[in-house]
Amino acid sequence: MSLRNKINNKKMPVHVAIIMDGNGRWAKKKGFARVKGHEKGVDAVRETVEAAAELGIRYLTLYAFSTENWKRPKYEIEALMNLLVESVNKERKTFMENNIRLLGLGDLKSLPEKSYNGLNSAIQETSGNTGLQLVLALSYSSRWEIVETARRLAEKVRSGEMESMQITEKTFRDTLPSASIPDPDLLIRTSGEYRISNFLLWQLAYTELYFTPVLWPEFNREDLYKAILDFQGRERRFGMTSEQIQQQKSAS
Ligand code: IPE
Ligand code: IPE
Ligand code: MG
Repeated sequence: MSLRNKINNKKMPVHVAIIMDGNGRWAKKKGFARVKGHEKGVDAVRETVEAAAELGIRYLTLYAFSTENWKRPKYEIEALMNLLVESVNKERKTFMENNIRLLGLGDLKSLPEKSYNGLNSAIQETSGNTGLQLVLALSYSSRWEIVETARRLAEKVRSGEMESMQITEKTFRDTLPSASIPDPDLLIRTSGEYRISNFLLWQLAYTELYFTPVLWPEFNREDLYKAILDFQGRERRFGMTSEQIQQQKSAS
């Protein structure tokens, strides 16, 4: 049986988040410049988005550029930003044809004007699409997001819109820049690194983590299927006992 056929369509993760890592190492392995790895990485993005949409995954969040990535060499940043607008422009038609909605998460205003405008117009154009919600995390870091949330709440308290006691897990969560997106069910990180690198720290509290040695440019639909199958074999307990989870399942 093919991997695809082993996947249980009724137990699909609603939200899959991916730390797409290993472009530089892939390029090095092949004797290319790092930028070539990013270019090849775009092909892996295309395949992954297509496969996720076919599987009926509702949300796919891709970590494309972190706040800390601004520390990289200028030419690499420029290449990444150009690649971003080029790819978004190229894919717009496919997004519309496949009912895919593009969303951005991060300090988007810090992007170069051309990238910001290109991204924004694709976000606007696809805003009515109801299929796969494709979230690009750009100039994103979770600590940035949490600080941003604290600022928004502080401002509401200062203006008298809410009281400090009304800051709860619920209101905090609802104020996050990513408020409209459910917490990920599955996080995939490629390239054999076992860390979170400032990604969705609040939201990952009960996410299932999956690490693969595959370098991002080589990641394909079969790798996505493997991660989902692994996820489907796990028991999510959310702090409860296995017996409680089984009871909940038989009651529903
Ligand atoms: C991930 O690949 C892409 C970005 C962070 C933009 P890297 O560029 O981090 O590749 P490695 O980790 O150096 O191999
Ligand atoms: C994480 O990868 C960020 C993205 C994939 C965009 P990095 O390559 O920047 O992470 P570190 O530096 O290895 O932790
Ligand atoms: Mg890396």
